[in-house]
Amino acid sequence: MAAMDKVLVFDTTLRDGEQSPGCSMTTDEKLQMARQLERLGVDIMEAGFPIASRGDFEAVTAVAAEIRGPVIAGLARANEADIKRAWEALKGAERPRIHTFLATSDIHLQYKLRKTREEVLRMIREAVGLARSLCADVEFSPEDAGRTDLNYLVECCHVAVEAGATTLNLPDTVGYCLEPEYEKMFADVKARVPGAERVTLSTHTHDDLGLAVANTLAGLRGGARQVECTINGIGERAGNAALEEIIMALHVRQDKLGLETSIRTEELFAASQLLTRMTGVAVQRNKAIVGRNAFAHEAGIHQDGVLKNAITYEIISPKTVGMPSNEIVLGKHSGRHALAKRYEDLGYHLSKPEIERAYARFTELADRKKSIYDEDLLAIVHEGFDDLPETYNLTHFQNVTRSGGPSTATVELSRDGEVVRDSATADGPCDAAFRAIDRLTGLPGIIVDFAVHTVGPGTDGTAEVTIRARFDRLEFSGKRTGHNIVEAAARAYLQAANKALYELRSSARAERSADPVHANEMVNRMFPGGY
Ligand code: KIV
Ligand code: ZN
Repeated sequence: MAAMDKVLVFDTTLRDGEQSPGCSMTTDEKLQMARQLERLGVDIMEAGFPIASRGDFEAVTAVAAEIRGPVIAGLARANEADIKRAWEALKGAERPRIHTFLATSDIHLQYKLRKTREEVLRMIREAVGLARSLCADVEFSPEDAGRTDLNYLVECCHVAVEAGATTLNLPDTVGYCLEPEYEKMFADVKARVPGAERVTLSTHTHDDLGLAVANTLAGLRGGARQVECTINGIGERAGNAALEEIIMALHVRQDKLGLETSIRTEELFAASQLLTRMTGVAVQRNKAIVGRNAFAHEAGIHQDGVLKNAITYEIISPKTVGMPSNEIVLGKHSGRHALAKRYEDLGYHLSKPEIERAYARFTELADRKKSIYDEDLLAIVHEGFDDLPETYNLTHFQNVTRSGGPSTATVELSRDGEVVRDSATADGPCDAAFRAIDRLTGLPGIIVDFAVHTVGPGTDGTAEVTIRARFDRLEFSGKRTGHNIVEAAARAYLQAANKALYELRSSARAERSADPVHANEMVNRMFPGGY
C-alpha cells in the first residue's frame, strides 16, 4: 500500500482562539492548555502574539521554555519591533518558529495599510528576511489571501519564499471563500510560485459562512499539507476551523482523503473540556465530535439500531475521541487508585496533590450520591485545582429570597486568617451575592456570561455553575458545583474575582518599576492592607 501523505497540525487556540472575546486565558491557563496540546500530538502550537501585551509575551516565553516536541510559534506583524519581540519570547524553545504576516488584498492595502503593492512587497522581503536571520523556521501569511488578486498573491508568495520563508499560510481571514476557490488558490500558488515545492503550504480558515472545515479540506485537495485550527473552533467572530472536526474527517474518511496526522484522537475530548474549563466558554450540545449529544441517540429506531450494532448509526465510536460513557463508574468504596485510573482514562493526568484534592471532593460527593458518573468526575476537575493562590475564601453564605421582593445575601470571606462579612440587597439572589462579594473585595465585577448545567443523570445530581465576569478591564471565569445553585454561583464568582486580583497584583508588581506612582495607587485601592 502506498505511504499516506502526512498533514501537519498547527494549533492556534492560544493565539487566534485566545484573542476572541470571552476566551482570554492567564499564563498558567495557557500552560495547562499547551501541555494538553502536546499530549494531543499537535505538530506546531502558536502560543501567542508576543508584542500584543506583556501577558502574551510572558505566556509565549513560558510555553517556549517548557514544551518539548512540538514547534512553538509566535505571531509578529511584518515589522522589526514585532519580529524582534517575537524572537525574544521564542528563543528558549526547542523548535521555535516566527510567524509573520502582512495583508495583501487591495481592500486591506487601500483602507487599512494605506500602502501600494510595491511597498507591501518590500515589507514582506524585509520582514521575512529579518525573521529568517533570527530563526531557521519562518512562516509567512499574506493576510486576507482569500480576497487577494491571484497574480499579486503569487508575487507576494514568491518574494516570501526568496526571502527565506519555510511555510506559506494562505488565510481566508474573513471566511469568504467557497471551497472550489480556496482549493484553486492553493493549486495555483503551488504551480506558479517558484520554489513552492520547497515550502509547506498551509490552510487557515474562518467560519463566517460555516465553511471553515470544508475549506480546510479543500485547501488540502489543492496541495496544502499544514492545517491551522483551534480546539472547539474558537476564534475571531464565528471562529476558526475546529481541530477536532478536521482530524475526525481525515480519520473517518481516510479511504477517500488518503491523509494522516499525528493526532492522538483519544485526547480530543479532554482537550475540548480543558479549554471549556479554562475559558468558561462551553460548546453547544450538538457540536460535532465533542458536544455532549454528539453520540447520544434519542429516536427509538436509532437506539434500537445502535443496540443491535453500533455501526448502524455511529460513524465514530465515542471511545475514539475519548468521550466518557454515561455508565456508573465509581462508588463510595472506590479508592484513590481507581479514581486516578479513571481520570487517566478520561485524559486527565493529575499530579499527586491534585488527586488528593479530587479524592477529598469525590468522597464528599459519594456520601451524598450513591453512584458517581464520569460527568461528576469531570465536574470536580473543572472546578479546578488552580495553583493560583486564592486571595479570599468563602467561609459562610446565607441568602434570603421572597418571590416578588428583593433578595439579601450575607457573605463571609477569609483572607490570611482575617474574616470579613458584609450583606447586600438586590433584585435577585445571585446579584445580591455578587454585590456582597464586591463590597468585601473592593473589586466590582460585571457578569458577562452565566451558565448552569446539571451534572450526571438522576435527581440527586448537582448543578455546575460557570460564570464569566469583567473586573476593571480583565475578564475571568469561575466554575463551581453544588446542590445550592446560588451558593455555587457565589463561589464561581469569587473564583473569577480571585483570578482578577491575582492578575492585578502581578501587573502592579511589574508596573512598579516602570510607573511606581500609578502602580502604588492601584495597589492601595485593591489591597489597602498591602500584599
Ligand atoms: O486570519 C488571519 O488572517 C490570521 C493571520 C494572522 C494568520 O489569523
Ligand atoms: Zn485567523
